[in-house]
Amino acid sequence: MTAILNKAFGSRRGFLKTTGLASLATLASAGAVKASEGEAAPEMTVNTVTAAEIAKLPRVKQKLVEPPFLPEHEQVVDAQSRVIEVTLPIIEKKMQIDGEGTEIWALTFGGSVPGPMIVAHEGDYVEVTLQNLPSNVMEHNIDFHSATGALGGGAITKVMPGEQVVMRWKATKPGVFVYHCAPGDVMIPYHVLHGMSGAVMVLPRNGLKDAHGKPYRYDRAYFIGEQDYYIPRDENGTYKTYENAGDDMADSLDVMRTLIPTHEVFNGKVGALTGEGAMKAKVGETVLFIHAQATRDTRPHLIGGHGDQVWEAGSFNDKPDTNLETWLIRGGSAGAMGYTFQQPGIYAYVNHNLIEAVLLGATAHVVVEGDWNDDLMTQVQKPGPIQAT
Ligand code: CU
Ligand code: MG
Repeated sequence: MTAILNKAFGSRRGFLKTTGLASLATLASAGAVKASEGEAAPEMTVNTVTAAEIAKLPRVKQKLVEPPFLPEHEQVVDAQSRVIEVTLPIIEKKMQIDGEGTEIWALTFGGSVPGPMIVAHEGDYVEVTLQNLPSNVMEHNIDFHSATGALGGGAITKVMPGEQVVMRWKATKPGVFVYHCAPGDVMIPYHVLHGMSGAVMVLPRNGLKDAHGKPYRYDRAYFIGEQDYYIPRDENGTYKTYENAGDDMADSLDVMRTLIPTHEVFNGKVGALTGEGAMKAKVGETVLFIHAQATRDTRPHLIGGHGDQVWEAGSFNDKPDTNLETWLIRGGSAGAMGYTFQQPGIYAYVNHNLIEAVLLGATAHVVVEGDWNDDLMTQVQKPGPIQAT
C-alpha cells in the first residue's frame, strides 16, 4: 500500500511533508487510491447518493469560453441535479503581457489567462476532463476551491504531458471560487504566477438574491481574472526572454521572493479589457462582474459607478453588501459585484491601488451605451476664466 501511494503521489507527498501537512496527504491519498480501485470508501458513508444514481442524472456538456465571457447558462434551474461535463486542456504557451512585447511562457488552463469560468448550480456535479497536452513539458493538476476533499482535487488530478484524468466534484457551496494548479512545493507559486488559475461560479438553483432577499437577475456577466507577474530582468534592466516553458524557473522564483510584481493585469495582459477588448453594457442593464485573484489581495472599483450588490467574499449564501465604492478580493478568492448602469460612457474598472491600476496594468473599461441622465450629473458651467463672485 505504501509503495503504491509513494508511486502515485511521490512529489506531492514530499511537498506536504515539508509544509507540515503530512496527515492531509495520507487522507487525500487514501481517498484517491480507493476511488481508483472502484471500492466504496468507508469514510464516505455520509454520502447517500450512489455512483449508480449519479450515472442516471442528466448530463450537460458545457462549452467553455475565453474570459471575460462566461459559458452559456441559465440563472434559475429546477431541482433536478445535473452532471456538468467540461474539458479543460492545459496549454503551455508563450504570451505577450504588455504593449512593450514583454513575454512569459504562460501555463494556462484552456489557453487563456485566466482559465475559463465554469458555471454550475448548487447540487450539480462537475465532471472535469483535465488534459495535459503532449506538447507541454510539465506536470500539472487542478485544485478547485469550490470542491471538497483531496486538496480540492489536486491529489487526484496530477497529469504528465500526454495524459488526461477525469474527476468529478459536487457543487455543495453556492458562490464564486478560484481554481488553480498546485503540483507541489515551489511549483505551486511558479505555476499560479505563470497564469494557471481560473474561476467557478456555483449559482443557487433559484438564482441570486439581493440584500432584501428579492430575486436578482443579471443581463450580462463578465469574468475578470487579475494576475500578478514577476518577470526577470537582465543586468540592463530589460525583461528577459526564454527558449522554453520552465526555463525561467530560478530567475522568476527570485523575483517572486521580493513580493513585488512587475505586472498586475486583468485577463492576461496590460490592456486586454480596454479598446477592442472592452466590456460592453447598456444603460439600465444589470451586469455581474466576477473578480478573481489566485494569490494577491486586490480592491476592485468601478470609476463613476458603484457596487450595488457585492458578494465580497464570494458566498451566495451570504447577504450581499450594498452600494460599495470599493471592495476587497482576498488573494486566493473570487468575489462578485452586480451593478445596474445609470449613465452612458466609458467606465474604468480598476484595482484601486492606483499604482497597480495605472503603472502595472490593472485597468479595464466598460463601454456603456444609452441616454445621459442630467439629473444624476451635469456640467453646470463649461471650464472658463475664474469669475469674481
Ligand atoms: Cu500547472
Ligand atoms: Mg470565493
